[in-house]
Amino acid sequence: MKLTIIGTGYVGLVTGTCFAEVGHHVICVDNDAAKVKMLQAGGIPIYEPGLDELVKKNVASGRLKFTASTAEGVQNSDVIFIAVPTPPQPDGSVDLSYIERVARDIAAAMTSYKIVVDKSTVPVKTGEKVAETIKRYCAAKVEFDVVSNPEFLREGFAVGDLMKPDRIVIGVASPRPAAAMKEIYTPFNAPIIVTDINSAELIKHAANSFLALKISYINAIATVCEAAGANVQEVAQGIGLDERIGRRFLNAGIGFGGSCFPKDLSAFIKIAEQIGYDFKLLKEVQHINADQMDRFVKKITDTLWVLKDKKIGVLGLAFKQNTDDVRSSPAIDLCQKLLKEGAMLRVHDPKAMDKTKALLPNVTYVDDLNAVAEGCDAIVIATEWDEFKQLDLARAKKSLTHPIMFDGRNLFDPVEMEKLGWIYKSVGR
Ligand code: UGA
Repeated sequence: MKLTIIGTGYVGLVTGTCFAEVGHHVICVDNDAAKVKMLQAGGIPIYEPGLDELVKKNVASGRLKFTASTAEGVQNSDVIFIAVPTPPQPDGSVDLSYIERVARDIAAAMTSYKIVVDKSTVPVKTGEKVAETIKRYCAAKVEFDVVSNPEFLREGFAVGDLMKPDRIVIGVASPRPAAAMKEIYTPFNAPIIVTDINSAELIKHAANSFLALKISYINAIATVCEAAGANVQEVAQGIGLDERIGRRFLNAGIGFGGSCFPKDLSAFIKIAEQIGYDFKLLKEVQHINADQMDRFVKKITDTLWVLKDKKIGVLGLAFKQNTDDVRSSPAIDLCQKLLKEGAMLRVHDPKAMDKTKALLPNVTYVDDLNAVAEGCDAIVIATEWDEFKQLDLARAKKSLTHPIMFDGRNLFDPVEMEKLGWIYKSVGR
């Protein structure tokens, strides 16, 4: 089918590319002309494993194109996906101005029947507003349908999540767009759930909030484990093997971050408030997440006492592994807290150092993971990158003034670390 994706951020670019990969003809639109130029020249503005090759392959096949013109995309497609940012506002509610702007642009360019699909994460009832807006601004007065089709891809695993989804959610108000949407997704061989538009919009916020809740739950269990002398990883394994619970997203650490969970939780709490429900459960999820970071910082200050002029090596800046994204990263938050106490930081991340430089100008960036510990009083692990497990522990031990490690992602075995002579503090063990 002929598809247009408006917005070439993580969601838009990966979605458009994967649609092209399964045989659709895709036009990706972005109003950032420099970004479009970069994409047209074969450059990729984000780090996402596997994306680079897939973009090149599909551009070469002629199925994937980039333009800065919304009209070009709309007029040459049957289905138009909106994948623009929905950033948080200071009160936690969602800024829908990009969605509204794009809805107007689509309406202005429409000269025949179109299906307009919202892929951005939006509050329930946004579909109704999009439909109203298109109707109002469509000079040609042509027919159209609005669909909600939330995405569930994780950064760092986006291509895999998109090519092999657990499920596809399609929210529609009539059968006509449902048939076209099913055709688009048939090549992905995933269960397709067709709902009304409000339910589809709610599924997205409910899913992300539940995953965040799962992380806060295990972090609260970690606190109990520390007080009781138990091991949170063993507890997670023991409860996770119950299929009703599941082991995934039960990794205790310094809390969740990123551009989705914190924002979507605040938004969902706000949406609930606006329709008359005080979502206390989700407020507690937020509190546990904030406390988790404070407790970790306290572990560091309890051990090192005064942080002023102490040198600390920090491994990890991205909000999680396999990405260069540092938006709402717990690792950056941790660095800022340590800097506030007067610590001096040597930091390393496999992919996110460039994006961090503006946020943390007064730290030393170290290219070699094994050189981070040099001259430091302690080393801290802040992101769950697999390569940190390969840290040369013998060299790090020699480089540090004292062999002290704070492992905020439970990458090492506490028993082994003690045997090797480390003062090793992790989370919930
Ligand atoms: C999340 C959801 O997992 C996706 O399904 C969803 O599509 C996406 O948001 C979105 O709304 O666009 P993402 O933000 O890319 O994906 O990252 P996750 O892999 O979910 O991790 C979020 C945070 O939770 C990270 O900071 C990670 O370190 C933390 N986390 C995750 C834990 O602390 N423990 C865990 O067990 C799992």
